[in-house]
Parts: sequence; C-alpha cells; structure tokens
Amino acid sequence: MIPQLVFATNNDHKLSEVRQILGARCRVLSLAEAGISEELPETSPTLEGNALQKARRVARLCGMDCFADDTGLEVAALGGEPGVMSARYASANGAGGSHDSKANMHLLLERMAGIADRSARFRTAIALIRGGKETLVEGIVNGQIAEAPAGADGFGYDPVFLPEGSCLTFAQMAPEAKNAISHRGRAIENLLHAIENQNQPSTPI
Ligand code: IMP
Repeated sequence: MIPQLVFATNNDHKLSEVRQILGARCRVLSLAEAGISEELPETSPTLEGNALQKARRVARLCGMDCFADDTGLEVAALGGEPGVMSARYASANGAGGSHDSKANMHLLLERMAGIADRSARFRTAIALIRGGKETLVEGIVNGQIAEAPAGADGFGYDPVFLPEGSCLTFAQMAPEAKNAISHRGRAIENLLHAIENQNQPSTPI
C-alpha cells in the first residue's frame, strides 16, 4: 500500500518539489489538507531540531503520520554560515526582511567578496514520525558559491549555487535536473528507504 504522509511545510514551492520527487511512491498531504492552518515553530539552533519540532507539532495537531524538513546552505569559508539561519540571514544581520532571498544572496556575496575558497553545501534534515516512531535522515549536495547570481528558476539561494560538476546554477537547471541531485531530492530518497525498512517484516532470530 502507498504510504500517506502529511508534509509539515507552509512553503508551496517545496511542497510541489517534494511531490514531484516522490511521484506515485508516496501520497503527500499539505497542512491545509490535514486541517492545519497555524504557523509551525522553528526555534532550534540545528536543522535536525527544527525538523523534529515541526513534525512533532503536526503529529500532535492531526494525529497522522508526517514529516518535516529543514535546510541550510553551509559555506566552508564562513564557518558553516548561513546554515540554520539561511532563511533569515539578512534579517538577522540587519540587512533585509525575513525570507528575502535577494537580500540573503546579496549579503552572502558581500561576505564572500575576495574569498577564493567558495565551497559550500546544501544540507536537508528530515524528521519522519510514523506510527509514533521518530526517524531522522539527511541529504547533502556539495558545490560552490558563484561570483554572481544566474538563472531565474528555483527559489532561495538557487541563483548563486553551482552544484559539483556543473557550470549551471540550480536556478539555471530544469526542475527535474535539480531534483535529481539536490539535497532535498537525496533526503527524500533516504526518507523512502527509511519507510521501506520500517515496512520489512522483522526476521526471527
Ligand atoms: P527550508 O528549511 O527548506 O525552508 O530552507 C531554509 C532556507 O534555505 C530557505 O528559505 C532558502 O533560503 C534556503 N533553501 C532551502 N532549500 C533551498 C533550495 O533548494 N535552493 C535554494 N535555497 C534553498
């Protein structure tokens, strides 16, 4: 039977990206479809903590199996920043509004000015709550911070992220091409593996 999970996100772009990655392998319900309209808390200092916090809240509110994710762009030369602060990077530094992608990218490029090591990675943590059991998985894509934004697709830091081995930024790629290699795509594949493992009948010793 196809598993059914509520995805604890208020971001419509992420919802459709995840539905596209999962296809017919898992039925994904939005928060609205689960009858939840409130903002979810995200106050942990780690990606894993935020994912767990959101999934626990949704499980409590609707009593259904669910998952939540949290993603950060981790830049080596900046000691892992913006990391868990990725969505609020500019606003936390007095340089723009919360979730203002242009301001976030502008601040990032400003901080990277003159820095030769531009290596970075996107990391997604996913917390799954299924049958009351909590499981954490992650997905990582390594790459580089571009010198300037390029491309119009995607969201967030996509225009300044060059995945390893590519001369195109995420924002210059077709959605299917991004999903095939992205942090979220990899984390979702690991989520499916975790579900498949849970579905295996345990072998008697
Ligand atoms: P979230 O936890 O998925 O909401 O991600 C936090 C922040 O990381 C977002 O607000 C974006 O700025 C950034 N981010 C997450 N995923 C992506 C992505 O796939 N591309 C570009 N930026 C992303």
